[in-house]
Amino acid sequence: MPEFIPVLTKSEIQQSVATLGEQISADYEGKDLVLIGVLKGAFVFLSDLIRHITIPIQIDFIRAASYGDDTETSGHIRLTKDVEIDLKDKNVVVVEDIIDTGLTLSHLVDYLRSFGVKSVKICALVDKRERRQAAVAVDYACHVVDEGFLVGYGLDYAEDYRHLPEIYHLKL
Ligand code: IMP
Ligand code: MG
Repeated sequence: MPEFIPVLTKSEIQQSVATLGEQISADYEGKDLVLIGVLKGAFVFLSDLIRHITIPIQIDFIRAASYGDDTETSGHIRLTKDVEIDLKDKNVVVVEDIIDTGLTLSHLVDYLRSFGVKSVKICALVDKRERRQAAVAVDYACHVVDEGFLVGYGLDYAEDYRHLPEIYHLKL
């Protein structure tokens, strides 16, 4: 039987997401900002985050598949849905559920830069540090953890558990 160890409650998540929304609103005041959610994992986080942003923004999505039904990255990133908004001269914040090795995000940041953006920053719900392989600057993070496979609030294990309103450490 898999074990679910609570890591973050609903109210801890809501509190940190609200703070981050306020911070992004202050940092990008008067600037063109496009938030790009990385599907599928970031959809819950992004939809809560944008409701705490008080400046005009645009929203787009990208989808990068790297994981199979496993708990470790394959290192191969495949773009399965592209951005649709014209990103030239825009400030971009990539919104990701969790950063583990950093390989997905470092590929995505390079890719987004190729559109001639003004800036790219990274915003993650969880910055998971222990297995980092690519040097990515996580500009905004709600929570930092060292290790463990997390599920809930958009995070899945083999497509399950995304709907859980709290975040758990899954022990298989
Ligand atoms: P990275 O390329 O190793 O940084 O992996 C990033 C992607 O792997 C994330 O967008 C997640 O989809 C997935 N991932 C990494 N760690 C976890 C986890 O603990 N739970 C669920 N998904 C994870
Ligand atoms: Mg994912």
